[in-house]
This record gives sequence, C-alpha cells and structure tokens, in this order.
Amino acid sequence: MSFPADFVWGTATSSYQVEGAAQEDGRGPAIWDEFSRTPGKVKNGDTGDVACDHYHRFPQDIALMRDLGVNGYRFSVAWPRVLPQGVGRINEAGLDFYTRLVDALREAGIEPYLTLYHWDLPQALQERGGWENPDSVAWFSEYSHVVSSALGADIGHWITLNEPFVISMVANLMGVHAPGKRDPVAAYTIAHHLMLAHGASVPIVRANAPGAEVGITLDQTYSDPLTSSDADRRAARRFAAFHNDWFLEPVFRGVYPADLLARLEPQGVLARVDLSQIERARVPIDFLGVNYYTRSLVRDNPGEPLLGLDFGRNEHGQHTALDWEVYPDGLLHTLLYLRNAYYPAKIYITENGCAYDDPQPSNGVVEDPERARYYQLHLPAAAEAIRLGVPVAGYFAWSMFDNFEWAEGYDKRFGIYHVDFATQQRTPKRSALAYRDRIAAERTR
Ligand code: FCB
Repeated sequence: MSFPADFVWGTATSSYQVEGAAQEDGRGPAIWDEFSRTPGKVKNGDTGDVACDHYHRFPQDIALMRDLGVNGYRFSVAWPRVLPQGVGRINEAGLDFYTRLVDALREAGIEPYLTLYHWDLPQALQERGGWENPDSVAWFSEYSHVVSSALGADIGHWITLNEPFVISMVANLMGVHAPGKRDPVAAYTIAHHLMLAHGASVPIVRANAPGAEVGITLDQTYSDPLTSSDADRRAARRFAAFHNDWFLEPVFRGVYPADLLARLEPQGVLARVDLSQIERARVPIDFLGVNYYTRSLVRDNPGEPLLGLDFGRNEHGQHTALDWEVYPDGLLHTLLYLRNAYYPAKIYITENGCAYDDPQPSNGVVEDPERARYYQLHLPAAAEAIRLGVPVAGYFAWSMFDNFEWAEGYDKRFGIYHVDFATQQRTPKRSALAYRDRIAAERTR
C-alpha cells in the first residue's frame, strides 16, 4: 500500500469533546452544556466541563502530535467561545485561544484544518429556535465571518459543518444528541437550514481567507441490503438516500434526491421547507470531507412510517464497543461511489476510527490490538481508492484522544492516545505507535 508523497496524515478532535474550560475566559453556554446536565441524556451524567482539558494543555498535546509525525490536525472552533450569545458581541479571549493554538501548530509543522461547526451551538441561539429558525443561516454567516476574518490569513483548510445528518437527524429526529428532539418536521427544517448555512458560509470564508481550501464534512454510511430480496434492496437504497444523498445532492447539485423527496413530501415532514431554496447549497467547494465508520445492513419494514425500514446485524462480522461492524470495504465502496457520482475535486477522510474497551496503561502503553487492526484494515481501503483514481488527499484518525463521546460520555474510547480523566495523563496506545510507524514508512518510500 502506498500513498502520494504530499498526502496529509492527521488526527482529529472537536471543541466540546476535548477543550473543557467550559466556563472560562468568557465562553457562553452551548447546547451540549445544557443537554449533558439534563438527567438521563448522557451516560453517567458526564459533561464536557473538563473533558481532556485541551484548552490548557494544547502545547503538550501538540508536542504529542509532532512525535506522532502527523502533518495535519483537524479541530473545531467553539461558537460560544467566540460569540457567547451566538451573534453580536465578540469575545476576543475566545478568538485568542484559537490564534495561540494555530501558532503552536504552525511551529510544530502541523497544518490546521478548522471546522466551524462541530455541534456546540450557543444555547442563546437554541433559545431562539436554534437551527429550526430560518435566521440560523444569517447567524452562521455572521459567525463564519467573525472567525474567518480573525484567522483567515493563518488557516489554509476550512470545513463549514461537521455531519449535517447527525446535527439534524440524530439530534432532532432520534433525540439522541442535543437538543434531543424527536420531531421529523423540525429535523427536516434543520437539515434545510444547515445546507443553506453551508452555501452562505463558503463565499464568506473564501473572501476572508484568500487561497484557502473550503469544504464540508459529510458522514457516509455504506448501506447493504440485509438479504438479497428486492424489498431489502430498495430499503437499502432508501437508507442511503436518507443518510447520504439528502446532503450530497444539495451540496453538489443543488437539489434534493428525487426518490426520497417523493416519499417524504406526502408525509408532511417537509412542510416548513421551501424546496426552491435548495439550489443555494450548491456553491463551489475545494474538497469533500468524508467521515466513515461502518456499514448499515438494511431490512424492509413497512411498519416503520418514515422510511419503511429497520436494521439487521452481521452475526459473522466483527464489531466495535459501540456494536458498529468493522467493514473496511465500505470505505472503498463509499469513496468510489462519491468519485463516480460527483467527481469532487478532492476528498479528505476527515474521520475514521473505532471505540474499544481498552485495558489500563501498562509500561507506558495501552495495548489495543483491535483498534490497531481497524486502522490496518481501513488504510489499505483508502490506498486502493487512490489507486483507482479517487482523489483522496488526506486521512485523519478519529481521534487523537479518548474524549467526551457525546451521549456515550467518557465510556466509549476512540482515542489513539489514552486519557486518564482523573489525572489528565496521556498514554499512547499501540495503535498510535503503529500509526506513527506507518506515517514514517510512507514518508521514506
Ligand atoms: C462522529 C463525530 C465525532 C465522533 C465520532 C465517533 O459522528 O463527528 O465527533 O463522535 O463520530
């Protein structure tokens, strides 16, 4: 397996999951502060108050990244750190944190990849309806302008949104993430506003960061039918449309996928969506960010109203601690599909990784053979896609650190570095050492 010489080897995190310092230096509350304090929403009542304390420890954390040999770090900006009320008054101390972070990255020879929105919406905006409010497009534009005018000269890679599928559907249809709604009309309204917000943000960032690459990160699931029946095949197609195409089609073609549109419209869930606006989501982007973790095995179920499907499980497969099937071929299929359907100029794999119940550190390392194997299986899938002509330009392991895994709290560990949350001690896992060796080997090829 080999990768191009200029391939970006990175790791990823997000603000709420690692920063901590939730009440410091003027940061306003985020919807995750509120949600994690609501009993029953997050496992063990965990919150992001301290997380990995990356806000204070970023110099040491960047030193670890340098040791690893990565040349890219994907992080996100906490909107309420920069604009505590979501709009209006700018908190200079918040911007200053990101300036210091970026300076330290540059000094270490690591290129920053900045995500504007990785789920920590200011609570003040949630109180005004959050992403359900059509004004959210203007709010996000203002925020994009504030961050890109402050950091535009220093950042060459910008991601508008992380995973609009999760922001809309997991948080507002399934109720699993903040703000925890179960309302299909709200979820589809939000998905629409997110796409418009992306379309509005890209030219703002471009104007403030000339020469920078701007894109969006979409999480992709690879859908297979559970059986070879026609009904299951059609269900798998519906799930792919629901999870992937609902966001890909606006970004690349300025439309919603016709097949799913025809199913959803009569159900009334698009009642608050002005379909004619969706062409605004299609603005030129420099890359597509792809997050890939697993595949979905889909089964037809006429009893389930929205999509008429549910899921099966591959009993012969291997599964992570979140019961996600380890399915590296799905990454290859996904990358080939994206290339053939949309011809993106560039793709960055902005997240890929797995949770396992790791043992405690011993002799300065955590033995995580299953995670090491997961990477060992997925990297060749990326290499094979490149060999077949997919313009994959970089790979970011999720995650640099064990961190606040949303509704799972600190229970599910995705890090290639172990974090002891009582002492904040970081310990490399075997997977980190293997990643380091892989990067070094690729560089000397
Ligand atoms: C993705 C999120 C990321 C992390 C991983 C496991 O959906 O973008 O924050 O939680 O899943």
